Amino acid sequence: MSVPEKNITIAAREFRFTPEFTANSPKVFMETYGCQMNVSDSEVVVSILKQNGYLYTDKMEEADLILINTCSIRENAEQRVRGRLDIFRLMKKKRPSILIGVIGCMAERLKEKLLEEEKMVDLVVGPDSYRDLHKLVQQAGTGQKAINVLLSREETYADISPVRLDENKISAFVSIMRGCNNMCAYCVVPYTRGGERSRDAQTILRDVRELIELGYKDVTLLGQNVDSYHWMDNSRGDDIDFSRLLALVAQTNSKLRVRFSTSHPKDMNDEVLNVMAKYPNICKCIHLPAQSGSSRILEMMKRGYSRDWYLGRIAAIRRIIPECTITTDIIAGFCSETEDDHQQTLSLLREVKYDFAFMFKYSERPNTFAQRKYPDDIPEKVKSRRLQEIIDLMKELSGESKKLDVGKILEVLAEGTSKKSKNQLFGRTSQNKIVVFPRENYQPGQYVNVLVDDCTSSTLKGKGVKGF
Ligand code: SAH
Ligand code: SF4
Ligand code: F3S
Repeated sequence: MSVPEKNITIAAREFRFTPEFTANSPKVFMETYGCQMNVSDSEVVVSILKQNGYLYTDKMEEADLILINTCSIRENAEQRVRGRLDIFRLMKKKRPSILIGVIGCMAERLKEKLLEEEKMVDLVVGPDSYRDLHKLVQQAGTGQKAINVLLSREETYADISPVRLDENKISAFVSIMRGCNNMCAYCVVPYTRGGERSRDAQTILRDVRELIELGYKDVTLLGQNVDSYHWMDNSRGDDIDFSRLLALVAQTNSKLRVRFSTSHPKDMNDEVLNVMAKYPNICKCIHLPAQSGSSRILEMMKRGYSRDWYLGRIAAIRRIIPECTITTDIIAGFCSETEDDHQQTLSLLREVKYDFAFMFKYSERPNTFAQRKYPDDIPEKVKSRRLQEIIDLMKELSGESKKLDVGKILEVLAEGTSKKSKNQLFGRTSQNKIVVFPRENYQPGQYVNVLVDDCTSSTLKGKGVKGF
């Protein structure tokens, strides 16, 4: 353990547990990287720490405990975290009593190595061990090695009401499951998050009701593969799959917007689409990561579907929910990807006409199937060029998708002040398109009918109209 001897007593004193919140309660500051699941987990972590007498602060300078919730999905995600750790270490030099904890996926992937490599990291806690945080902080405070990276088959933090950390108090995440059983060849998530488990549906509904009471207007149900959600409610003899859960959440309040992420093309069934079509408050947008347009690459990726199967799912969406926007994730330059495979990805984008995509260069991750079995053989320059071509095409397609809305009146949930002007608000449509419009007398949190009169590739512009 790398905490210098002379600082141990200071740290131990600062972290003596006080159940009531007092001026002396230890303060925790938290930074979150990675996916929405991590954002949601950070809220669980703060809730667990609050129960143990900590206060949350958004000012790093006044923190006694700094936690960084990390992501391992690509090499550059980890580099960003290491960059932040450098800054925290500078702070610790000035104020040695601060404890620094690395939590989340990088903690799980690197385990003890983090304590060894990253001098001055005091605790390392994996995604399934957050209940242990207080004990580990106390342990680190006395200079002992503080690490728990055990993965669990059951942990879903179902009983914990997350402390909402977002600023707008309008949209929130509710995690419905953890882990992933899919083992896509390139992906580190099954190793950092463990196997898939679904959360008790009643606790999901409890979180949703709590959010409604707090005034939230938009919830996103989260899981790595929401379509395989499954909860057997023994007390009610009830078998709840994702389509049932979605319907139950939508029924809690017809004014609550309901979104979900992420759907998996191999598991997304028509039942889910029928539920989406039935309830006006379920947002008409599906994030359906394709990863590649080439069936050969999809097979190597172990995605469990072909291009034709994927296009069949798109056809089902178009048939059942014609107004639905579709977004995706694409990986450029996966092992052995030829120019022809790449062209097939571009043609898939054109064929589906996505509204938006997250686009990445393939990044080899240690111990994944791809790292063990396939050479990472696409030169960096080729990966970059292919990624750029994908980005350029997506910009065009995003623009075309936005143009379809010019002239329409759309219901927009106002979420906050536009970054560009304080006289403008921004919000989102059911289709998850961002709309900017004059503030006038509208307030964040309000549903506003906006007549769209202009657009860019990323944003719709318009004006609130009354009487609709
Ligand atoms: N569970 C979701 C996605 C989780 S990770 C799903 O299966 O769709 C989010 C995205 O990161 C993935 O969809 C993929 O596009 C990208 N990604 C994952 N591993 C990657 C890697 N090794 N290199 C580049 N991109 C990766
Ligand atoms: Fe990773 Fe595949 Fe699981 Fe998504 S479905 S988290 S890409 S293994
Ligand atoms: Fe990253 Fe872990 Fe999410 S690796 S993408 S934070 S599940």
